[in-house]
Amino acid sequence: MFDISLYESFRGKSGGIISLDSVNSTNIYAVSGSFPAFTVITAEEQTEGRGRSGRKWHSLKGLNLYFSIVLNGIEPQKLLPMNIFAGYVMADTLRDVAEIKIKWPNDIIAGGKKLAGILMETSFSGGTLEKAVLGIGLNVNIDEFPEDIAHMATSLKLLTGRNFFREELLASFMNNLESGYDDFITNRIDLVKLWSDYSAFLDKKISIHKDGVKTQYTERGIDDFGCLKVENDQGRPETIVTGDIGYDFCR
Ligand code: BTN
Repeated sequence: MFDISLYESFRGKSGGIISLDSVNSTNIYAVSGSFPAFTVITAEEQTEGRGRSGRKWHSLKGLNLYFSIVLNGIEPQKLLPMNIFAGYVMADTLRDVAEIKIKWPNDIIAGGKKLAGILMETSFSGGTLEKAVLGIGLNVNIDEFPEDIAHMATSLKLLTGRNFFREELLASFMNNLESGYDDFITNRIDLVKLWSDYSAFLDKKISIHKDGVKTQYTERGIDDFGCLKVENDQGRPETIVTGDIGYDFCR
């Protein structure tokens, strides 16, 4: 179980922290329950950790951070921007630890490999947004990944050679998220610029993978909704709403 004293000393919006030993997925737990806004659900391990696009999130016990934040009351049009904002906050939280980049929409990259991932999950009732949960996995002290992902995954320990206090990282991320949240919601921050400063591929070649098809573009940042702006091979602008940037140009 986590020692959460660092986090609880923060004067922010927190609905409190629920620290679990083992759970199927902190996202499932958060969406299934009824918690005040900004409640944080964290777990030492997840037996069914979920990643984007139906992938699995490896969630070994005691090594990394797996947590979900309850976002009650957020407007539906803020969901994609919130994904982007969370990625920016994570990148900024880790900026003194390693050279951090973001791969759209919110993969946190260091040394050309994935360090953290973010998965927002929602539930709607009769067309109305009922619940929104932001789930974050950060590879902290793991130093060996399963063979199938070892070529594309990294951790703070692999990047720096030392161990980190996970609760301190969680506290620091939540402090940054909560202190910037009101400005984010009221559009008082320039999220397009903040995000672009961390983008791994601004003005670079990327390939977008969608429904088994791979298309090459040049990245031109994001728009106000958090969608990716690109140019196709003929130089024509396009907007990407869903899909994944491949790791083929990553370095
Ligand atoms: C991704 O594929 O990049 C997103 C990974 C998100 C993983 C986190 S770990 C905590 C939360 N619970 C889950 O089951 N998934 C998210």
